[in-house]
Amino acid sequence: MKVIKTNSYQETSQKAAEIVAEQIKSKPDSVLGLATGSSPIGMYDELVKMDLDFSKITSVNLDEYYGLAPENDQSYRYFMNEHLFDRVNIRKECTFVPDGLTADPEKHCAEYDQKIIDLGGIDLQVLGMGLNGHIGFNEPGESFPVGTHLVTLEESTIEANSRFFASKEEVPTQALSMGLKQIMNSRKIVLIVHGKAKEATLEKALNGPVTPHLPASILQLHPDVTVVCSFNE
Ligand code: F6R
Repeated sequence: MKVIKTNSYQETSQKAAEIVAEQIKSKPDSVLGLATGSSPIGMYDELVKMDLDFSKITSVNLDEYYGLAPENDQSYRYFMNEHLFDRVNIRKECTFVPDGLTADPEKHCAEYDQKIIDLGGIDLQVLGMGLNGHIGFNEPGESFPVGTHLVTLEESTIEANSRFFASKEEVPTQALSMGLKQIMNSRKIVLIVHGKAKEATLEKALNGPVTPHLPASILQLHPDVTVVCSFNE
């Protein structure tokens, strides 16, 4: 595992963008696994500035709130359009985000896993990490979630994400999340972590025991992870 500690969110975003840009240049038809949340926003801004060719890229997103329509400005589909897809030459039909309105989550999740297999797997997966150590919405628990699944969000995740909503009550309580199998099968991973509040959890995830109580710790078992982090606010 490679850990790049920088002095600012700006530098973290720049480094993460360089890794993604390198992937796109070396394999223009890459399958990128993408994340939402505050961590990758700066990286998306940097990627847009780099004027890369996304015309052959396919993307699969980690997760989506269950119950939110793509047009809802809090949905992760909306986030991706706003922060990246509408700003680069990616073909929208080659961007995949779990369907928050699916009537049959189990079937949809199985299809999402199959889609990733059909695409030949993920070349580079971008991850953020929650305050509780989740990656995707794989929350701490007694076992590591395997496939894409419907998850009930932890109270602490709802609390953390309420900053994006008008009130805590508006935060969906469930989400569809890629499982750890798909994440761990990615050929490369870049994990972006920013903020003092996450420093101790990241330290445990990287150097403590591998445990489902801290889902990000599983990344210790992946052969090609780069962690880009900064802890100053
Ligand atoms: C988002 C995702 C989550 C976030 C995590 C950190 O697609 O999968 O795991 O990466 O909750 O969120 P921020 O970056 O907002 O602190």
